[in-house]
Amino acid sequence: MKHYLVLNMKAYQTSGADIQKTFKKIATLQAEHKINTIVCPPMPMIGIAGQVLPKRKTLQLGAQDAYYENEGAYTGMSTPALLQSLKASHVILGHSERRALGETNADVNKKIHAVLKTGMTPIVCVGEKTRDDAGNYLQALREQIVETFAHVSREQFSQLMIAYEPVWAIGKNAVRSATPDEAVEMALYIRKVLHDACNVVDHADVTILYGGSVHSGNAQSFISQQQIDGLLVGRASVDAKELPGIFSAFK
Ligand code: PGA
Repeated sequence: MKHYLVLNMKAYQTSGADIQKTFKKIATLQAEHKINTIVCPPMPMIGIAGQVLPKRKTLQLGAQDAYYENEGAYTGMSTPALLQSLKASHVILGHSERRALGETNADVNKKIHAVLKTGMTPIVCVGEKTRDDAGNYLQALREQIVETFAHVSREQFSQLMIAYEPVWAIGKNAVRSATPDEAVEMALYIRKVLHDACNVVDHADVTILYGGSVHSGNAQSFISQQQIDGLLVGRASVDAKELPGIFSAFK
């Protein structure tokens, strides 16, 4: 099975030199382990990443977000057309840290359509904020999925990836990571919603990643699950001590 490792460098590093060191580390590990890796650098470094990352089919460049228009009077926005011309092939969309700044399901939906139009691959984040004993979070997640993927066609679901990222498991203030069992259960649930509400016939075709406090000590427990096609890693992706263990988890 094809596995993916998405490295979301967020905005953890603030010097270009440090970021380039991380690129080097990732490129070395990627050459050694040959994992399908998508590096998502801080946005201002994406052009440089496109120039300095070695050209390999299995080492690709991703943006951390994109706007839904391709060009025009949009101060501060990164457009899909520009990102693509800077060699990005993937774009993370609907990350919970962007949703927390006010991005709605409808915004994410417009971005998905815009990115699909360019031929780049959207990596769309979904996940519940909290859990409750009554299981209401499942209905909330279903609504998020249905609105986020409105008018995405059956074929288009095979041209994107979904990252299940429970918000409570993300970042250094996370309660904990999800357990592998929880991640599997939710991947199955997402596939069921895609089948029941989004017109997806063969939901096994959809790529589902897990993200939320993945580190060298737990990566293997997720990636060894059949339902999980890869990992989306945040803070550990800029940690030179964590990266080797994450790469070697994909055996
Ligand atoms: P984390 O972030 O690995 O730092 O929890 C994951 C993410 O936000 O994608």
